[in-house]
Amino acid sequence: MQQKMDALKAEILAQMAETKTGRSLYELKLKFQAELKVVMAGMKDLPKEEKPAFGKIVNAFKTEMEEAFEARAVVVKEMEMQQKYASERVDISMPGKVRTTGALHPITLVKNQLIDVFAGMGFKVFEGPEVETDYYNFTALNTPKDHPARDMQDTFYLAENLLLRTQTSAGQIRVMEKQSPPIKILSPGRVFRSDDDATHSPMFHQMEGLVVDKGITLCDLQGMLAEFAKKMFTDSTKVRLRPSYFPFTEPSVEVDLSCSQCGGAGCRLCKGTGWIEVLGAGMVNRHVLENCGVDPDEYTGFAFGMGIERIAMLKYGINNIKTLFENDTRFLKQFED
Ligand code: DAH
Repeated sequence: MQQKMDALKAEILAQMAETKTGRSLYELKLKFQAELKVVMAGMKDLPKEEKPAFGKIVNAFKTEMEEAFEARAVVVKEMEMQQKYASERVDISMPGKVRTTGALHPITLVKNQLIDVFAGMGFKVFEGPEVETDYYNFTALNTPKDHPARDMQDTFYLAENLLLRTQTSAGQIRVMEKQSPPIKILSPGRVFRSDDDATHSPMFHQMEGLVVDKGITLCDLQGMLAEFAKKMFTDSTKVRLRPSYFPFTEPSVEVDLSCSQCGGAGCRLCKGTGWIEVLGAGMVNRHVLENCGVDPDEYTGFAFGMGIERIAMLKYGINNIKTLFENDTRFLKQFED
């Protein structure tokens, strides 16, 4: 039995010297315990008087081996730590990873700027649906079927009375139906028209404004536009109103701003006129007020609508609307705020 123990000791110690991980050392320990059990099974064949002495030898052997395992465990642990350090080593001389950050799209930037400007004058934002009924987009805005003004906008119809809104003006009706005056809302959103060239896109963005209260006049509109022009462009930007026609306003005006590029002297951008058309506006037509249950003898209002792309193009000197929809990051990067 002593021989068997010696052989077992030699075998286990040799294998132990090879272990490099806590796991293999643990497995070796299990193997040792199993084999020791086999050796110990031989004890029952020993003469009775030899058993106590041999028991002591076995215990000493066990202790010795246990200590060997413990000592190896310390070594193996250190080896594992070293390996971990090596694999996790950070080379601080390596160049860092460059992360490119996103930026707001110029249309979003301008939309937010417009909201800021008008929020400063007390306007609240209302967002209407992009899929509208014929009623909200046209009829309630004093543009019944067969009205020639329907030809001003080429409409995408989804069904007989359902369409992609052609103008955020539809939101005016939704607001006035729900809210009674005083009303002061701003309605940004996407609109759709079958129209496509360097300055028109089948999908574009508008910003609508509506103010309804007692005693609102065209002067209020003009004053608000002057403030808008200064805040959105420069302090010296002037506003000019020209008579125009929209079915939902009476009188209607087309609003020009003095050219931001030449300051009014005349250049290519303003085609030599010194003025640039930026939006449509007017006093809310009494029929529109009546359609929404607002008494036109008690209340008056003004409305305006502008293309956000157009404002962005003027502000940033962009000459083709398509660049706003191509998502070329080389173009978009220039507008980081
Ligand atoms: N909805 C008009 C358009 O898309 C713009 C417009 C003109 C809006 C006059 C208005 C307004 O609110 O009063 O061409």
